[in-house]
Amino acid sequence: MIVITGATGNIGRSLVRRLHGHDPLAVVRRPIEDLGGPYTLADFEQPRTIGGLLSPGDRLFLNSGLWPGVVEAHRAVIDLAAEAGVAQIVAVSVRDAAPGAPLGMGMHGEIDEHLRKSGVPYAILQPTGFMQTLPRDVRDGTLYGAYGPAPVNYIDTRDLADVAAALLTAPVGPGREYLLTGPESLSHEAIAAEITGALGREVRYVNLSVAEMAAHLERQGVPEPFAGELARLQARTGDGSWAPVTTVVRELTGHAPRSWQDFLAGHRDAFA
Ligand SMILES: NC(=O)c1ccc[n+]([C@@H]2O[C@H](COP(=O)([O-])OP(=O)(O)OC[C@H]3O[C@@H](n4cnc5c(N)ncnc54)[C@H](OP(=O)(O)O)[C@@H]3O)[C@@H](O)[C@H]2O)c1
Repeated sequence: MIVITGATGNIGRSLVRRLHGHDPLAVVRRPIEDLGGPYTLADFEQPRTIGGLLSPGDRLFLNSGLWPGVVEAHRAVIDLAAEAGVAQIVAVSVRDAAPGAPLGMGMHGEIDEHLRKSGVPYAILQPTGFMQTLPRDVRDGTLYGAYGPAPVNYIDTRDLADVAAALLTAPVGPGREYLLTGPESLSHEAIAAEITGALGREVRYVNLSVAEMAAHLERQGVPEPFAGELARLQARTGDGSWAPVTTVVRELTGHAPRSWQDFLAGHRDAFA
């Protein structure tokens, strides 16, 4: 059986459908219609509800959103998976994850460390930013950010689902980590131009200083210190270090990663 956590999320929804015929079991927190595969109710906040689903030889897709208790919850599920004799854990992390790093990178860094030491064969996915989460940052035809002019990479979460499906259905190999990117890196000004072309109405990128971006995020309801950390993170990923692309998606899936044009063709409504 392949147990899929985060099954209602961007990656999980695509993954459940891709694993049709491979004995998938989606984990969701509340009953849902039209997930495309069988599901059961369980919650990371009660790790044993997930651990209790696992049997020797199962494979586990480990993913969820982030909240203050996520490190403890994921570590507990990893321990329960090891106890149950799970054959492989494929976990979603993030590029530059490391203990002590800001925000999600620090949380993922701690979870990744635990997974590496768990004794369970693992695959840690380290993607760049998700194309699917960008539309929510566009308001009234404007995308604000503190990224500066350098190119930044984004990946379509459908490619992450393809990668996860490939890893979860191939023979289990030794523990490995995969730096996953989209096919090209663009400046945010160029991304705004792509969105403008796809929507047929102008979307412009406005670059702010870190302090201005933090204040902007606070006005949007993001509390301090997260607003400041998020703004600093944008400046950090915009320093060119999130520009290099890898060929890992193609190597693992046999197809090129989806471009901004591919993403925008199917997600115009997300910008409404
Ligand atoms: N956004 C980015 O640009 C980016 C970049 C790199 C890495 N990542 C990482 O990607 C991951 C998110 O992946 P995603 O976008 O596919 O997910 P998502 O769309 O954010 O959805 C989160 C999923 O986690 C589930 N979940 C949250 N709390 C849970 C709990 N206590 N118990 C069980 N399920 C729970 C949610 O279920 P409900 O439907 O019940 O809420 C949902 O299925 C995060 O680890 C994030 O750090 C994100």
